[in-house]
Parts: sequence; C-alpha cells; structure tokens
Amino acid sequence: MNICVVGTGYVGLVSGVCFSELGNHVTCVDVDEQKIAKLTEGKSPIYEPGIEDLIQKNLHKNRLLFTTDLKQAMESAQIVIIAVGTPRKQNGEADLTYIEKVAESIGQHLKSYKVIITKSTVPVGTGKIVKEIIRRHAGEVEFDVASNPEFLREGSAIYDTLNMERAVIGVESEKAAELLIGLHKPLTSNIVLTNIETAEMIKYASNAFLATKISFINEIANVCELLGADVTKVAEGMGYDKRIGHAFLQAGIGYGGSCFPKDTSALVAIAEKAGYDFRIVKDVEQVNKEQRSKVIDKLKVALKNELYGKRIAVLGLAFKPNTDDMRDAPSVDVIPILQNEGAEVVAYDPVANENAQKVIPNLEIADTMQEAIINSDAIMILTDWKEFKEIDLTEVSKLVKQKIIIDGRNIFSNEHMEQMGFYYASIGRKT
Ligand code: UGA
Repeated sequence: MNICVVGTGYVGLVSGVCFSELGNHVTCVDVDEQKIAKLTEGKSPIYEPGIEDLIQKNLHKNRLLFTTDLKQAMESAQIVIIAVGTPRKQNGEADLTYIEKVAESIGQHLKSYKVIITKSTVPVGTGKIVKEIIRRHAGEVEFDVASNPEFLREGSAIYDTLNMERAVIGVESEKAAELLIGLHKPLTSNIVLTNIETAEMIKYASNAFLATKISFINEIANVCELLGADVTKVAEGMGYDKRIGHAFLQAGIGYGGSCFPKDTSALVAIAEKAGYDFRIVKDVEQVNKEQRSKVIDKLKVALKNELYGKRIAVLGLAFKPNTDDMRDAPSVDVIPILQNEGAEVVAYDPVANENAQKVIPNLEIADTMQEAIINSDAIMILTDWKEFKEIDLTEVSKLVKQKIIIDGRNIFSNEHMEQMGFYYASIGRKT
C-alpha cells in the first residue's frame, strides 16, 4: 500500500517506519525542515531503541521517504495518517490546532479517493470535525475518515507496533474498513472494528485505566507503609489473579510522560463537557501529584530535616527508562524543590541529561553515575534504569559521604540493602 504519514513525532515516525518495514511504501511529512533533513540522512530525532536501523534499512530499500511537501506525498497515497501533536491546553482539554491545520491542507490537496486516519489522541468527536474540515476544502472528491489510535510505549515503540496486541479501527464505510483491516492484518489478529467515536474513546479509556492502576497501587503502598505491609508482595499476590494481572502494579513515584498526564486530564475535560463528573480519574490525577513529594518527605526524614548544604545525587531524569523524554518527568518537580531548600543537586541519566538541562534550570549534571554519587549525603533514584539496578553497592559505599538511598522506584530489596548497611527508604515497604 502507499501511505502518507503527516507528523514525524513519536507516533507518526514509529508508525511510518513500521509500516514501511512491512513492505508498504511510506512517505513521512513534517513542516520541520531540519528534522526532515536529519531523517533523510537516516538519523532519528528521537531516542528509541532500534529505530535508526529500521529507518536506514527502509530508506535504502526505497520504501521510506521523508519530505516537507504534503501535496507530493499525498499524490499516490491510498491512506493518509494524521499523527500530529495534541498538547494539553491550560483548561486540561486537548489542543486541536495542529489537527485542524493538517485537515485543511489535506482537503486542499485531495484529488482522488483516500482514507484519512487520525492516529493522534483526540477527543471523542474529532473524527467528525476532521471530516467537515476536509469536506469544506476538497470539493466533490470522495474520501473517508477513520480513527486508528496508537497504543505504543516509548522505549519499546517498535516492538509494540510490530507485535501489537490489538488494532482499533473506527470507520464509517465498508471500503475504509477493508483497506484498514488489510493494513493491520500482518500485525495482529485482534482487530476491533467499530465506529469513530468508540475508537476515539477506547484510547482514552485504556490510558486512564492504566493510570488508575498505578495510582491505586500507589495508594495501597501508602497504606502499607502505615501498617508494616510490603507493597511489592501485595502486587505480586494480586497479580496472579488473571482478572487483575501483574502489569502496571509497580508502586513508585507516580506516572509521567507525554500521555497519561495529558490523557487523564483530557478525559476529565471531555466528560465534563458532556455533563459528567469523572470522579475516579480526577482522584487518580490528585494521587499522582501527591506521590511525587513522598520521596522528598523520605529524604527529609533520612537527613533529619536538614537539606541545606547537603549534596544529593539524583539518579534518573527521564520519566521512565529507555527514553530521553522529560515530559512530565517526576525529576522536573522534585529537583527544584531540593534546590530551593538549599541542597546541592548533582544528577545523572544514561540518555536524558541534555534534555533535562533544557527544562530544569541550574541543573548540575555529572558525566558518569560515579561522578554524581561521589561525596553525596544521599542518593535518590527517580528512574528505574537497568544501569542503576546493576550498580555495584560496594563501590557506592566507598564513594559516598553517607550511605543513604531514597528509592522512588523500588529497584532494590530491603534485605540486600540491610546487608550492605544502607539506610534505605523506598515506596510502600519498611524503611
Ligand atoms: C503509555 C501507554 O502505556 C501506551 O499504551 C500508550 O500508547 C502511550 O502511553 C500513549 O498514549 O502514547 P508511555 O507513556 O510511553 O505509554 O509509558 P508507560 O510505559 O506506559 O509508562 C507511563 C508511566 O507510568 C511512566 O512514568 C512509568 O514509570 C509509570 N509506571 C508504569 C508506574 O509508575 N508503574 C507501573 O507499574 C507502570
């Protein structure tokens, strides 16, 4: 198939590259000339394991192309995928400015039948708006709109796309359904065919449910601390029940990233607009917000309420491992609070250092983990990178001033930490 993808952000780029890997001819379009030049040279603007190899391979096979020219990219395409950003507005709603602009351009360049898919996460009802905008600009040319939300995770985006658990396809015509089922057949046998509004809702419901699981286990963790129970064991015990499952029951500093915070508040706003007060999701957001300060409280207890002049090594800046994404990362909230209290913060992240310096003012970065740790009064773990899990604690003992670890991700066992003689405070387990 010939596919045109508009927007080379996370979702657009990964989808485009994966569809080309399946043998389709894909042209990815973006208004950012520098980004397109970089991609044409085979370089990825995002950090995502495996993506550069696939870009280079498919560029070489001439089935992947990058351009700023939407008109040309659309000419031979049967499918046009809209994958531009929908950032959060101040009132929590999703901002549709980019979607609307792209729909207008698509309408202007539409010369033959195509299916126009919205892959960006958009409020329920957006498919209809996209259709109206295109219709206004496309004259009599026939087209269909569809919703095909994306469920990939940053850090395993290629794997998630090539091994998707389900494809959700929201359509209004048989013709569009046939085309999109054909496109997704090589990827999964779980195809959920429905109308556009339902497909749009499936995306929000899925992300809000996963966020709910995280806030739920974090509240259980907070109660565990008061009662002497261990949340990791509680989660394990719960997870064997197939109706519950083990996934997304890892207690910690709370969720971050470009999706859960944005999509939970968008769902609350969508419901409110429709006249419904979505209480559970509002509480999920509040619990998540409060969870971030738990590690600071624990640090204060460990340092007897005196952060002034203390050297704190922060390990992990990105919102989760295997990404350099700093959007809504817990470190963005935690580090300035420590700095304001007079602590000397030295941070280290395997890949997000550069991005972190753009969003956290006056951030001191160490080149290595050892350099961050040296002479520290306490180590704080904010991201569960594998590199931190494999840290040599004997070496750490020799480098630090005080053997204190505040772990926002529960990456060590209490027993091991006790053996190694550390003061160790984690989430939902005894200190
Ligand atoms: C999330 C969803 O998992 C994807 O299915 C979805 O497609 C994507 O949003 C999106 O809407 O684009 P992502 O934000 O990349 O993907 O990251 P996740 O791996 O889901 O993690 C989100 C946050 O939850 C991270 O901060 C992570 O540390 C936290 N988390 C996750 C926990 O605190 N505990 C857990 O048990 C799991």
